[in-house]
Amino acid sequence: MNIPITTLDTLTRLIEQRTGLNVYAQFRSELHPLLEQLAGGDLVRLLHHLRATDETDSQWQALINTLTIGETYFMRDKEHFRLLRTRILPQIILEKRQQKRLELTIWCAGCATGEEPYSVAITLQEFLPDIAKWKVTLIGTDINQRAIDTARQALYRKWSFRHTEPGFEKRYFEPSDNGAQLKSEIHKMVTFKRANVLDTPPVTHCDIIFCRNVLLYLGKESIRQVENNIFEALTNGGWFILGHAEALRYQRERWLLHIFPGTPIYQKPVTTALAKSAPTAPKPIIHDPIENAESFVTIDPNNSPTAAYSAAVQAIQSDNYPAAERYLVEVLAKQPNYARAHTLLAFIFAGRQAYPEAHAHLDKAMKYEPLLADAHYIRGLLHLEQKEIAEAQEVLRAALYCNRQHIMAADLLGTLRAQAGDLPDAYRLWRNAQRALTAYAPQDYISDFSDITAGALDTLLNDRLDKE
Ligand SMILES: C[S@@+](CC[C@H](N)C(=O)[O-])C[C@H]1O[C@@H](n2cnc3c(N)ncnc32)[C@H](O)[C@@H]1O
Repeated sequence: MNIPITTLDTLTRLIEQRTGLNVYAQFRSELHPLLEQLAGGDLVRLLHHLRATDETDSQWQALINTLTIGETYFMRDKEHFRLLRTRILPQIILEKRQQKRLELTIWCAGCATGEEPYSVAITLQEFLPDIAKWKVTLIGTDINQRAIDTARQALYRKWSFRHTEPGFEKRYFEPSDNGAQLKSEIHKMVTFKRANVLDTPPVTHCDIIFCRNVLLYLGKESIRQVENNIFEALTNGGWFILGHAEALRYQRERWLLHIFPGTPIYQKPVTTALAKSAPTAPKPIIHDPIENAESFVTIDPNNSPTAAYSAAVQAIQSDNYPAAERYLVEVLAKQPNYARAHTLLAFIFAGRQAYPEAHAHLDKAMKYEPLLADAHYIRGLLHLEQKEIAEAQEVLRAALYCNRQHIMAADLLGTLRAQAGDLPDAYRLWRNAQRALTAYAPQDYISDFSDITAGALDTLLNDRLDKE
């Protein structure tokens, strides 16, 4: 069929108006055979039909299916997921806890076959030790009904796992004849809806919106519309994550731009009045490079929990905290009652000032192993961080009750006693610590969460005890 150029123009304009897809630039050659097939020889009738129906119509869906690119995979753009864990979630969650409103709303717009929202669900599951107490609304939308149907099934082929760590699939999926079936605890966290990102958003007051690798395919006017919709759908202070190859082009002055190493992320200002009146784009907030950014370690799925735990300890001793966290998640996936892994995770969360999460991991550690001195010791550190000195002393004493030889607890409690003016008690505790050190070689590390060696601590203690 020979399609007159004017009809083709009218059709591509209509498609762009409805879907945002920049058809002319990208898909004209593919559109030709499809239109021939859909029109059945009568292009004018097809044009009328498309004008009279919305995108749920089967002919619209046939077009959308041809014109959209549904490329996606689990944990795509690992840097985004790392920022989610280390920068974005800790801040949001701390605020929510302070407000006593344990609710999170996250929208993945243009989620294709669901790998993206499920990756977010998995991240939340790993990040929030008390997730059962939270009301999580996690919604994935896409204009393509077939993609949404696939997402709801949550049955994936190997290709979807092409950039995940070896243990990932085993941890969260059950093998089945037709692929890997997502486990129900993650599956039920996400709801899906067919929706056009140009229309009124399906959720409001979102804490985070992902709209990654969608704007790439849209025309200028549509991008402007999407950016507006996303701005309106976010709560004040909410975060907007685009694909690596994308950056906001319009109305940037409304947004705070955070430049994290290798990736820009936008944030809706906390007070929108300020943003509306801003005459020029605010300066980007440049975040320092994060040490050990290359932290995505390869995890051997056959590793025993004990081997993965040792790998976590080594990662901590070389200051690679993100790697340590990945190993510990692996340990707990295999053995949820591994008290030492909960304790080490609490230590990592404490370092990020995610105190409630740290306390929640300690609660679990103590539930499984009430006399684990390390867990009491970390609890002491948490109290100290929060300037709760009396509580810190109490739990450090509990640590020493569990293990009289606990060097770190004796050393720290000694320091607190010295600060309180009780020098005899301080010297007693430091001498105890020094005696316990004799069980170690000078080059040995004295605990799983410290890079101080027995020799180095011995020198420090000698200095203090010399003044006795
Ligand atoms: C390349 S995929 C991106 C998937 C996922 N966000 C990611 O980054 O892995 C782009 C998706 O955007 C969807 N899309 C395109 N235009 C859309 C629109 N107007 N409304 C909603 N989804 C749209 C497509 O159907 C496709 O599934």
